[in-house]
Amino acid sequence: MTKVLIATDKPFAPAAVDSIRTVVEGAGYELVLLESYTDKADLLAAVADVDAMIIRSDKATREVIEAAKNLKVIVRAGAGYDNIDLEACTEKGVVAMNTPGQNSNAVAELVFGMMVFLARNGFNGSAGVEVRGKKIGIHAYGNVGRYVGEIAKGFGMEVYAFDPFVAKETIEADGVKVVDSVEELYSTCNYVSLHIPANEKTKKSINFDLLNKMPKGGVLVNTARKEVIDEEGLIQLMDARKDFAYISDIAPDCKEEIEDKFQGRFFFTPKKMGAQTAEANINAGIAGANQIVNYIKNGDETFRVNK
Ligand code: 3PG
Repeated sequence: MTKVLIATDKPFAPAAVDSIRTVVEGAGYELVLLESYTDKADLLAAVADVDAMIIRSDKATREVIEAAKNLKVIVRAGAGYDNIDLEACTEKGVVAMNTPGQNSNAVAELVFGMMVFLARNGFNGSAGVEVRGKKIGIHAYGNVGRYVGEIAKGFGMEVYAFDPFVAKETIEADGVKVVDSVEELYSTCNYVSLHIPANEKTKKSINFDLLNKMPKGGVLVNTARKEVIDEEGLIQLMDARKDFAYISDIAPDCKEEIEDKFQGRFFFTPKKMGAQTAEANINAGIAGANQIVNYIKNGDETFRVNK
């Protein structure tokens, strides 16, 4: 019988697992669950005889892909697939997919949760500031970026975006101003919200020079990946600019240094929480399960990322 594994060290909401089970068992397949594992050996053992798997930020390394002898398809329930060794998948004839857009609203809502938390000094009783009337720059106008723009307008913010891969007219049709360069985005906006993927081009691309262009009181909001930040440059900037703050969904590697030195100018979630809502889990989980069934039954490769 075709076996589908859900391997999540950060588990889905139970309702999402139920929904995935309905799709998988409805197709006549068996569902196996590996949640909250702490040992890589457990993952290696779990993948040994599965035909398909759904993961989140779990690391699907070459070792994992090679240990999964029967694997035909792996779905990252989420947008960013930097955790999958695509080369290993291609070499082994495994189709890798993501589920774009399914958890985007959850991530966008967290952007504003963190922004307001910082603006109100962590709700510590002192007078904070408001975000209305401030300028927010959306760095990459994909699924999450669009939701961020929509919510920002509700907050009464001025919304800007930079994305060389999206037509200017498409962005402007949403009532968002388009700037001509990434530098212009940073020099224009009080808040910059990052939505770029982590890849060889973007890793460490958010550096001192770029961040230093932000106006006084600038805040960088990172619900993307910590790898896109040049952490040395970030520390250097936070040292040089006492007005600058950094809030991020998942702490940087230099967390301790920031926590020691820059009180009141940072916030980090304890675990990556952007997509951690029941709705996002259900949307991404069901999408992943359907994609697996459609691939196995009909060869449908929509959302394949290792072309
Ligand atoms: C994504 O790329 O979709 C998000 O980062 C979600 O990650 P998670 O599934 O680990 O919460």
